[in-house]
Amino acid sequence: MRIRVFASPDDAALYVATAMEQVLRYEPNPVFGLATGGSVVPLYHRLVSLTSNEERWLDATTINLDEYVGLASDHPQSYARFMEERLFSRIQKRPGRIFIPDGMAANLQEECSRYDIILHEHRIDLQLLGIGVNGHIGFNEPDSLLQSRTHVVELKEETIQSNARFFNSSDEVPRRAITMGMQSILQSKRIVLVAFGQEKARAIADTVSGTVRTEVPASVLQLHQDVTVVLDSASASLLEHDWQAQETMS
Ligand code: GLP
Repeated sequence: MRIRVFASPDDAALYVATAMEQVLRYEPNPVFGLATGGSVVPLYHRLVSLTSNEERWLDATTINLDEYVGLASDHPQSYARFMEERLFSRIQKRPGRIFIPDGMAANLQEECSRYDIILHEHRIDLQLLGIGVNGHIGFNEPDSLLQSRTHVVELKEETIQSNARFFNSSDEVPRRAITMGMQSILQSKRIVLVAFGQEKARAIADTVSGTVRTEVPASVLQLHQDVTVVLDSASASLLEHDWQAQETMS
C-alpha cells in the first residue's frame, strides 16, 4: 500500500482527481468504480473542474459500489441522486454507461446477479473507495465472513449512526443496502481509498497495519498490489511515524 498524507482534504482531492483525469484521458474505454459519502465530495468537485468539458466521458463507464435498499433514485439521500448532483449533471458529456445498484428492485437477489454480470463484463481501471468508521468498504461490513460478490447487507449500528448525519434522524437511515462484494473490489486494476478526519484515524490504522482480518474489511486491501491510501493529517494521526515521514507529499 502507498500512503499519501495531505495538508487538507482539498489538496488530497486534487491529487485523486488528477489521477482520475489521467485514466479518463489515456484509457481507451475507461471504467471507474465510484464511491459516495462526505469524503468524496471534494474529490468530485475537483474532478468536475478538471474534466467538465471532457468529451472522453462519452467513452467511460462508471460502476457505483452500493445503494441503500428502499430509496428511489430521486430520494435526496440515495446514492443515485448523490452521483447525479455531484458528478453526472456537472459534466457536459455524461459517461456512456452509468451503473448503480437499484435499491428499489422488486427482486433484490436478481438485482445482485444483474450487477455481478455488469462487473464481470467490465474490469475496473480505477476503483475509488471511502471507508466507514468501522472499516467497511462499499457496504461490506465487519463480520466473521466477507462476501465476494454483490449482496444485500444488514447495516451495522455504527454505520447507521454514522450515516444519520445525512438524514433527519437515525430512524430514517435504511437498515439494508446492496453492495459490491470484496472480490469485485479486489479485481480492480488500481484502488484509491480516501479518508479524512479524526473519526477515520482508527479504521485507517487498522487497515494499513496489522493483520488482514474480516473484522476490518478494508484491511483486505493489503492483498492488492496497487492501492493508494489518501489521507489528511487527522485521519493519518494514528499511523506509525515512519509511514507519515516517508510518504507525506505536501
Ligand atoms: C458509506 C458508503 C461507503 C463510504 C462511507 C464513508 O457508508 N457506503 O462507501 O466509504 O459511507 O462515508 P463518509 O465519507 O461520508 O464518511
